[in-house]
Amino acid sequence: MKLSDFGFTDGINEVIGITLGDWINTAPLGIIVEDPDDRFAKLKIYPSHTKENLKRGILYVNVVRDAVIFTISAFDDLDEGWFESLNPPILKGSLAWCKFKATLRDDLVDLELLDGEVVRRDLRTVNRGFNAIIEALVHATRLSMNPRLIERVKYYSSIVERCGGRKEKEALNLMWRYLKMLL
Ligand SMILES: Cc1cc2nc3c(=O)[nH]c(=O)nc-3n(C[C@H](O)[C@H](O)[C@H](O)COP(=O)(O)O)c2cc1C
Repeated sequence: MKLSDFGFTDGINEVIGITLGDWINTAPLGIIVEDPDDRFAKLKIYPSHTKENLKRGILYVNVVRDAVIFTISAFDDLDEGWFESLNPPILKGSLAWCKFKATLRDDLVDLELLDGEVVRRDLRTVNRGFNAIIEALVHATRLSMNPRLIERVKYYSSIVERCGGRKEKEALNLMWRYLKMLL
C-alpha cells in the first residue's frame, strides 16, 4: 500500500482531515508528500482542534472534490449527516479515505499510512473556480493572523465568480457568510 494508491502526488495534497475527540472534527489539511510511492508523509499543523486530537495518534483523511465540504470544514465541523460511514469516517461523495498513524513534533506531524480505500472515481477537468475557492479559503482561515489577506480572499473570490460552477459559487457564498460572522 502506498500514498499514490489513494491519489496523493508529490507536493502538497489538500484533503479533509478527520480526527476523533469528543466529537468528529473535520478540517482541510495540506498533506506534504515527497515520494507518493512511499507510505510516509508530513503535515504542518497550526494550533487547532485537529492538533489537539492528533495527540491521540490517528489522522483519517478523505479525498474530496466538493467545494462546499472544504468550506464548511474550514470554519465549522461537518455533522454526522455529512458522512456515508462513521467507521471508518467517509464523507458522502468522498473519492478515497486513508488512516494514518500521526506523531506530533511541535508544529509538524509525521504521518504513516496504515489503511485506506478508493471509494469512487471522478473524472473531471481542471476548474479555476474550484482551485480559486481553495485559495480563498486558505487565506480566509489565516485572516486572524494577518488581516491584510482579505485582499487575496477578494481576488480569488472574483475568479470563483467568473469560473466556478454551482457548487463553487455556493461555497463562495458560505465562505462570506462565515467571514461576516467572524470579521
Ligand atoms: C485548503 C486548506 C488547507 C489547509 N491546510 C492546513 C494545514 O496543512 N495545517 C493546518 O494546521 N491548517 C490548515 N488549514 C487551516 C485549517 O483547516 C483551519 O484552521 C481549521 O479551522 C481548523 O479546524 P479545527 O480547529 O476544527 O481543527 C487549511 C485550510 C484550508 C482551507
